[in-house]
Amino acid sequence: MTHDAASVRALLGEILAALSSAAESDDTRTLRERLERFVALSDDALTPAVLLEASAVPLGAMRIFPKEARGLVGSKANAIKQAAEAALAVEKEAALAKALEAQRSGAGFDATMPPPRQTCGSLHPITQVTRELEDLFTSMGWTILDGPEVETEHCNFDALNISPDHPARDTMDTFWVKTQPGAPRLVMRTHTSTVQVRAMRRLQPPFRAIVPGKVFRNEALDASHEHTFHQMEGLVVGKHVSVGHLIAAMKTLLRGIFGREIEIRLRPGYFPFVEPGFELDARCPFCTEGCSVCKRSTWIELLPCGMVHPNVLKAGGIDPEQWTGFAFGLGLSRLVMLRFGIDDVRHLLAGDVRFLEQF
Ligand code: FA5
Repeated sequence: MTHDAASVRALLGEILAALSSAAESDDTRTLRERLERFVALSDDALTPAVLLEASAVPLGAMRIFPKEARGLVGSKANAIKQAAEAALAVEKEAALAKALEAQRSGAGFDATMPPPRQTCGSLHPITQVTRELEDLFTSMGWTILDGPEVETEHCNFDALNISPDHPARDTMDTFWVKTQPGAPRLVMRTHTSTVQVRAMRRLQPPFRAIVPGKVFRNEALDASHEHTFHQMEGLVVGKHVSVGHLIAAMKTLLRGIFGREIEIRLRPGYFPFVEPGFELDARCPFCTEGCSVCKRSTWIELLPCGMVHPNVLKAGGIDPEQWTGFAFGLGLSRLVMLRFGIDDVRHLLAGDVRFLEQF
């Protein structure tokens, strides 16, 4: 008992006295009986919880008291409530101190209990696949390069043999960046091919490099099209590099990432920066007869590639009479979808933790 039971009884007595000035009715009788039960309780039974109830009873039946007595009844009932709350606070503090003391003394500690579960993050599926590809290519002696996401019009288009009136500028649904009038025009890069010419200017041939990164396109979104997605460029420049080398590299890439041979097809593809150009498609793993991911074709467009166009080598300061090369532009986001069975590319960058927790 942390409160004074005698004064609580005195308060209840004053409320009962106020009740006796009310006209006799069933309600007054019931209320009186209830209050008298509280008064009759032993000191030990007058716990803080019981006191709270005792204070609530007259407050909830205020209309039974004569008007002139209501102020007094309210103040007495509130005094009981305050005593209850103070007693509850003391009890809570004592329980906390007891628990702390038990913790300090080591009582109740069981060394055989499993530790509390640690919540641990994981790498994003795009990061996982990027790292695997980087390991695969660096193990074959390739270099990893990076390039700016805000790119010059020159590196995104001109240096890649895409002339100012070329339809490829439209088909890539470019996000243009606002610049001062007269300043060089800038774009959010529409592909990682921008790094081709940057790499040629920086590295001496022969060289082999990959460029994983984010690209941006202002296009209509669906299960296989995002406005922001990942690609990985590959570029090889050397003596006598041929289409045979290109196909061997593509197959090594896909075998490395899927751990098995996957069905592919090669068809002619047009990109101004390669000649000849190809589209490499992978068999859709989600269906056998066509679905929304493969646009009902059972094939997923994954790996456009080709032999580097002589004009691009020239723009990079490399003599096309002496050197040849191949390039590919892997749809990294789509590869991640194939790898993990993700049926909508928009999940990848949506930031929904329920999706991310699965990896
Ligand atoms: C290109 O971007 C060329 N730069 C690729 C290239 C490089 C060709 C080197 C030849 C030599 P394309 O626009 O097809 O090509 O995009 C390449 C891949 O990115 C596609 O095969 C596809 O897998 C992926 N992709 C394209 N648009 C989207 C999109 N909106 N969302 C997700 N993935 C996309």
